[in-house]
Formats: sequence, structure tokens, C-alpha cells
Amino acid sequence: MKTVGVLVSGRGSNLQALIDAQRRSELGGEIVVVVSNVLTAQGLDRARRAGIPALFRDHRGKAREEFDAEIVEILRHHGVDLVCLAGFMRLLSPVFVRAFPGRILNVHPALLPSFAGRDAQRQALDHGVKVSGATVHIVDEGEDSGPIVAQEAVPVLPGDGVETLAARILEAEHRIYPRAVRLLLEGRCRIEGRRVIAEGE
Ligand code: GRF
Repeated sequence: MKTVGVLVSGRGSNLQALIDAQRRSELGGEIVVVVSNVLTAQGLDRARRAGIPALFRDHRGKAREEFDAEIVEILRHHGVDLVCLAGFMRLLSPVFVRAFPGRILNVHPALLPSFAGRDAQRQALDHGVKVSGATVHIVDEGEDSGPIVAQEAVPVLPGDGVETLAARILEAEHRIYPRAVRLLLEGRCRIEGRRVIAEGE
């Protein structure tokens, strides 16, 4: 059985989507640890309720590399095959990315490469796009720049504000994240440069 470690900083609804997929035997593996840099993150409660070890590690007062090395150590200790960032509000240092090459996923609330970085839904509204969406990508050493595993388009509707658009995109995130995790865990895709090619494509 392949193993997953999930990093969260807040609400943890994507973590919940992964937990729910695991319950339905649709994740292709088992979530063995959840780590948060925020003590009060709702994601930690969701993990505990699901019986998953849930740990808090404070990043404050530490160099980025020092904090990242701590998290890498925890993930290795739990024998994690795949790391899922799920609303983890920290940029990863090269130390972290190189510890799990091609084995870190992130979910982003826009159709990358549009609107990378923070406030992606706000960026989409300000730009006036008619379609945005959700992306799951492999994490490389840039920000939201790694190879794309899965995307789903979401319409931007007249009258949308950040909250309504974010809610619509979130539903897409919850659909594509478990599917992307399964694809990787089952080894049903390969990476060629920037492209992730799923089996049969
Ligand atoms: C999601 O919109 C995700 O795309 C972004 O942060 C948000 C996290 O939400 N990276 P949740 O904590 O999974 O509910």
C-alpha cells in the first residue's frame, strides 16, 4: 500500500476530499500523517477525527531550510511515498523539493499557468476572465510552476465575488485532487519535461 503525507495550514477541505476518497477506496493509497504549521488548523481536527496522526510544527523563528528539514524528517519517519500540499501556506525550499523529487503535489485555485501565487481567485476576477478553474501540479522549485497533472475548468459568472468563485472552484479541486493522487500512486503516468502523460494518452 502506497502512503501519503498531507500538509495543511487551515480549513483542510482538500484533505477531507482525500480522506473521503480513501474511505471509498479511490485514493490508491493511505494517508499516514498530516502536518500543519498552524496549531489551530481545522485540517488537524479533520485528520484526528479520521484516526490519522496529526502533528503541529511551528515555523516561526526558524530558517525556512530548518523548518523544511523538520517536516521532511517527519514524512520520512512515516515512510511517505507522496506528499500532498493542501492549503499549505508555505513555499518549500529546495531542501524539501529535492527530498521528494516528482513526489510532491499541490492544488491551486486557478488554471495554471494563469494566476499563480496568492489570491488566485481575486487575480482571475480582476483580470476579467470568463473561465478559471483548478489545477493539481507536481511541485518543483518554482512557485506553482511544476508539471500539470489535472485541471478542471470552472465558469466565472456575472456577479461573482471572490467567495462565490472560490466556492465553485473548490468543488472542482475536491474532484481532481483525489484523482491526481491516485494516478501518481498507481504509477499510471510519466513525466516528460513539463508534461505529465497519463496511461493511455
Ligand atoms: C484551496 O483553494 C487551495 O487551492 C489553496 O488553498 C485552499 C485550501 O483550502 N492552495 P482547504 O484548506 O483545502 O479547504
